Amino acid sequence: MPDLVLIALRIAALAVLAGVAWPALRMAASTAFRNRLGAHPGLPHLILAAIIGYVVLVLLLAMAPLPLLVTAAAAAGVVAGLAHWRARPDFGRSRGLPPGTLAATSLAMVEDDRHLLDQARRYGPVFKIGRYGQKIVCVLGLERCNALLRRHGDDLVSGGLPFDRLIPGGFIRYMPPDRHARYRRLLAGALTPELVRSGRPMLAEEAAGALRAMAGSSTATGIDPAPHLLRYTTRSMLRLFLGLDRDDPALEEALALYPVIASANLSRRTRKRVSAALSTLTRLFAEAIGRAAGGGSPSLAASLVAARTDAADDPTLLGNLVYMIETGGRDTADLLLWVLKELADHPDRAAELGRTADPGLAQRIVLETLRREQSEYVVRRVVRPITVESYTVPAGWLLRLCVRESHRDPAIFTDPDRFDPDRFQGDPPRAGVYAPFGLAPHTCLGRSLVLAMAAEFLTALGSGCDWRVTADGPRVFGSFHWMPSRRFRLAFSSRAA
Ligand code: HEM
Repeated sequence: MPDLVLIALRIAALAVLAGVAWPALRMAASTAFRNRLGAHPGLPHLILAAIIGYVVLVLLLAMAPLPLLVTAAAAAGVVAGLAHWRARPDFGRSRGLPPGTLAATSLAMVEDDRHLLDQARRYGPVFKIGRYGQKIVCVLGLERCNALLRRHGDDLVSGGLPFDRLIPGGFIRYMPPDRHARYRRLLAGALTPELVRSGRPMLAEEAAGALRAMAGSSTATGIDPAPHLLRYTTRSMLRLFLGLDRDDPALEEALALYPVIASANLSRRTRKRVSAALSTLTRLFAEAIGRAAGGGSPSLAASLVAARTDAADDPTLLGNLVYMIETGGRDTADLLLWVLKELADHPDRAAELGRTADPGLAQRIVLETLRREQSEYVVRRVVRPITVESYTVPAGWLLRLCVRESHRDPAIFTDPDRFDPDRFQGDPPRAGVYAPFGLAPHTCLGRSLVLAMAAEFLTALGSGCDWRVTADGPRVFGSFHWMPSRRFRLAFSSRAA
């Protein structure tokens, strides 16, 4: 063959090898994917090694004899073709799989917050998607999701995040049914609405302190409210859980350790550092529970000791308390960030919050923000094949019960995209149509606490603080869910000042 043809063949083969890898490389480089990797120790190194390995292989092939290079390119082309064929929406229909595309490297779900709604509009309330190589069946409609959990509870497990392995006996969300029932009973019996009510003055004090700190550090270009919100929720929970005073040195010691054990950042810390921080936190918690046994102010620790005298000696319970504050504090801080964003986008409601004597407005704003933005999805792994509507979900697949998207059903919420806190006037909606705190048997144990922390923050915001937006941008997908832009900045000033 003439030299020019050989060179062209070589270039074409290399282009195929590069093109085949492009979607995976684009996915690996995306911020959302990298955020997600933060929760999985070891995985970023594995992926980096795979990328380097592939680049080295392509370089070696570039220097290899032409037949070898062309064969490798042809094999890569076949693999890409198969992936493309498998990604077509009617793939697996003869086996009973739902419609929808399994494109493994698709970033649509983390680049477009309406992607799942669009898929539901196209394929109906049960459809399949692919994400980061996982095969997922999405289900919309909370009545449907509840019925599914009731019928197939034994065929589904809650797949855990890696932090689960740091707790002896595991985190409550991911425990096997017997253990889950035991710890859920204990924790639900201790973290009661009455306990939360008794903590309201402390929450009000913490909220006012957080806003003072935000005003104190504000500049003309504004501040990032996120770290302040996380400090507010974590401090409040530590105080309520352990019965700590505002100035207790254990409070600051624990606060400094929380970033080290953060479930979303485990891959960025060494195992040794995480273990050391976790064992110090566990000791602090055990000591606080020990002190609570001798009496004192109401706290979760005191209620736990009243229920079980050996509470301070149970490493499963201690680990769960530590991580309930980590995960719950982060979720609540993220909720408050969305509340600020919603108020920033709806200044009339923000002004009303400052004027009104109606304590219900804060609660309605929070419920509406939970409906629109900070609703978790619920994910289960299928351990035995199940039937959803007329479709089959094979073992090993994930089931995503789409709570956030179910909250956008116009048959249930009129004009669902509109921010309208007043839709929560009157009786609270049924669990069958509104479930930001999840579905039985794993409904959130922090519900009353979340609502109390949010209400106290909004009351303090409305009564003691002026604030304005100084910078903003498009929403982003964080480690686990959608977040306001990382550029979102606010300038605060205390009204008294
Ligand atoms: C905005 C804040 C929060 C939201 C939206 C939220 C939402 C949820 C959801 C959807 C679930 C169910 C997860 C599943 O079924 O896989 C859940 C479970 C749970 N939440 Fe929350 N949560 C929040 C804050 C908190 C807080 C502050 C606490 C701390 C007390 C907490 C403690 C728990 C626990 C212990 C579970 C597991 C319950 C079980 O497995 O039985 N959450 N939460």
